[in-house]
Amino acid sequence: MVGESDVDIGSATPGDMAELVGVLGDAEMFADQLRRQAEGLGQLLVAWVGGLAVGVVYLRWEPADEPEIRRHLHAVPLLRHLEVHPEWRKRGVGSRLLREAEARLAGRGFRRVALGVAPDNFPAISLYRKQGYEKWPQPDVKTAIDEFSVMVKDLRR
Ligand SMILES: CC(C)(COP(=O)(O)OP(=O)(O)OC[C@H]1O[C@@H](n2cnc3c(N)ncnc32)[C@H](O)[C@@H]1OP(=O)(O)O)[C@@H](O)C(=O)NCCC(=O)NCCS
Repeated sequence: MVGESDVDIGSATPGDMAELVGVLGDAEMFADQLRRQAEGLGQLLVAWVGGLAVGVVYLRWEPADEPEIRRHLHAVPLLRHLEVHPEWRKRGVGSRLLREAEARLAGRGFRRVALGVAPDNFPAISLYRKQGYEKWPQPDVKTAIDEFSVMVKDLRR
């Protein structure tokens, strides 16, 4: 476990791009998330340990791309792309990022939060269940490129 006080979680800034891309890759995705953050459509959170970016999660509160999510989870924000660097996994960083994301969303007045997860991503599903997320009653969502289960948490509990 990484001690609570050893992990700092904060909003990403454009100046963090080089570190994020260097550690976690995907320049295009981070550029897109930072652009959306600048437009007030979401927030990219970064977990830092001693100046190293070790994990990220994107909080998205613009309407979902998938029509069934817009229909069944109207105005419910989504957590996207939770990722912890492989060398820092299984030490509580993913749980910390989730808790911080939930606290920030609750602070913005949201009552629920949702996310999509591949049905065979057992580490992630185990983490989400442990943190109180439940699979929604609708079928898994199929898109042109993948299929995922939707999990939802009530932030008021
Ligand atoms: C999923 C992920 C974010 C978890 O991050 P993490 O920092 O390792 O998670 P934590 O250390 O906070 O783990 C908390 C709980 O999650 C579950 N978990 C995490 N990794 C696991 C693994 N490899 N196998 C089984 N359960 C696992 C366990 O229940 C764990 O509790 P425990 O430590 O008491 O057993 C990380 O594995 C990751 O980045 N995976 C690749 C990207 C990804 O799949 N993201 C999710 C997209 S939906």
